[in-house]
Amino acid sequence: MTANELRSKYIEFFKSKNHVEISGQSLIPENDPSVLFTMAGMHPLVPYLLGEKHPSGTRLTDYQKCIRTGDIDEVGDPSHLTCFEMLGNWSLGDYFKKESIAFSYEFLTSPKWLGLDPKKISVTVFAGDDNAPRDEEAASYWKENGMPEDKIAYLPASDNWWAAGPTGPCGPDTEIFYWVGEGLPPVGSNKGTDSANWMEIWNNVFMQYNRVDEKTLLPLEKKNVDTGMGLERTNCILQGKTSVYLTEVFQPIIAKIEELSSYKYGTDAEKDKSVRIIADHARASVFIIGDQRGVSPSNVGAGYVLRRLIRRAVRHGMKLGIEKAFLAEIAESVIENFKIAYSELEQNAEKIKKELTAEETKFRETLKKGENEFQKLLPNLMKNPKKIISGKVAYNLYETYGFPLELTQELGAENGFTVDIEGFKAAEKKHQEASKSLDAGKAKGGLAEQSDTTTKYHTATHLLQQALVEVLGEQVAQKGSNINNERMRFDFTFERPMTKEEIQKVQDIVNEKIKEDLPVTMQVMTLDEAKAEGARALFANKYGEQVKVYTIGRDPKTDWFSKEVCGGPHVQHTAQIGDFKIEKEQSSSAGVRRIRATISGGLPLES
Ligand code: ALA
Repeated sequence: MTANELRSKYIEFFKSKNHVEISGQSLIPENDPSVLFTMAGMHPLVPYLLGEKHPSGTRLTDYQKCIRTGDIDEVGDPSHLTCFEMLGNWSLGDYFKKESIAFSYEFLTSPKWLGLDPKKISVTVFAGDDNAPRDEEAASYWKENGMPEDKIAYLPASDNWWAAGPTGPCGPDTEIFYWVGEGLPPVGSNKGTDSANWMEIWNNVFMQYNRVDEKTLLPLEKKNVDTGMGLERTNCILQGKTSVYLTEVFQPIIAKIEELSSYKYGTDAEKDKSVRIIADHARASVFIIGDQRGVSPSNVGAGYVLRRLIRRAVRHGMKLGIEKAFLAEIAESVIENFKIAYSELEQNAEKIKKELTAEETKFRETLKKGENEFQKLLPNLMKNPKKIISGKVAYNLYETYGFPLELTQELGAENGFTVDIEGFKAAEKKHQEASKSLDAGKAKGGLAEQSDTTTKYHTATHLLQQALVEVLGEQVAQKGSNINNERMRFDFTFERPMTKEEIQKVQDIVNEKIKEDLPVTMQVMTLDEAKAEGARALFANKYGEQVKVYTIGRDPKTDWFSKEVCGGPHVQHTAQIGDFKIEKEQSSSAGVRRIRATISGGLPLES
């Protein structure tokens, strides 16, 4: 079986169990300030897991591209990836533990589907703590399906409790593992007794709580199931391979790296690792730039993560002796390999290659500059009789010029210097602590924050979008938006700065629509119907798919100001938003402008 076949089989299986496919969501979350990337299939579903009605019903399934940068340092080993695909199925207040476990077991072991050997499967369930009881229920359903008692490990919340963020939907989970050791697992072996030889392939989360804050866990009115199966890993075990990089998911990319570097994969452990890092990071970069809400390299947020991925790939390319810009060529094989499942990559192919080459060329120049800078430092360094380059100097070269420690060491060694590695690490740690506290501040709002204020901002973005079109013309298209409790940011395509008058006019229109206190209404229809009614549908991409359409106006058919395909939630009527003020209009990137705006003093929701 190939990854493409696995993807199709998964969707087909869940469709046969009355699930509706909702694949095709962006990697860049909308209206969620707490995370930079979609990092699980459930991410776009947060509002629905908290109780919003989903237009496609209560049983959903999809495949989803994800980015996780948390364990970026482990990337390069045989199973960690920053960019991966997750196969998922959801019950929104529909079935719960019994069916979820039965579905998973059937899909994995039935000869009609994956046909995996049940002897090589073991599971974990939640052991219980002060928050929630031991999950005897899940364990009993596993037994009903034939799982022997000694293949069920009861583990604590650190293993068997899943939440996407510090707040939001969460609950105990049951995880499914496959034996990757020699032969068959010994009697009594499970994840609890032998962690190394059992590889996680699927996680079924029973989302029955909403974490409101550190201390408060509220039961959800409707219990949900959220599952995620790792596509690359499952594909790997189905093929009996020892590493995801040895499957057809990565082989064409690795072949391209071999061709460009004249290095043969499998001949040198250190160089193999570089190959894997390039393959993973190149794929991640292609997916980020080529996304339907694509991001460009920059010094902030998702753009900065992208920049780091590209730079790291380039450095490892250099280690393999690749002297010229090469990522665009790797990108071609990534696009070729994944366009079946992600057509946006092919649509954005030129942009992907252009941006990669530009960033890579710039970085290679930066490195040259760093080298010059190092040469300039040399006379001063020479005065140091101990011939040690301090950690601070090395870290400065790294921070300012992106000049990696290894290169400072290399150049230093050529001149008889050693580098104070401990000092470098200390300087790095200090820096990381500073940025971590920034991150923590960012995550504080929580993934699932759906406060009244963010809801108001959300409706304000719809008004702003329409006002911009009325003032600047139809070429204005939303490129992204970002909302938190203090402000909104709205990016849109437009070639030049707006004039003062235009800014004032847009602000006036939005405030006028707020004062008119227009009702906000929602209807569910197919995407085709929505487009026929004139709705904006920026990010939806499947015709025939059921979507929610939010209309702002007195009559959704005949008298409306704004109509957009959108997941919600929104205010009930516009006076709830309050005063709208554009604080800033500036450039965001080439051909894209950014508006920063605030609201104040609206009516409470439900009023
Ligand atoms: N959301 C769960 C996970 O990512 C399924 O593991």
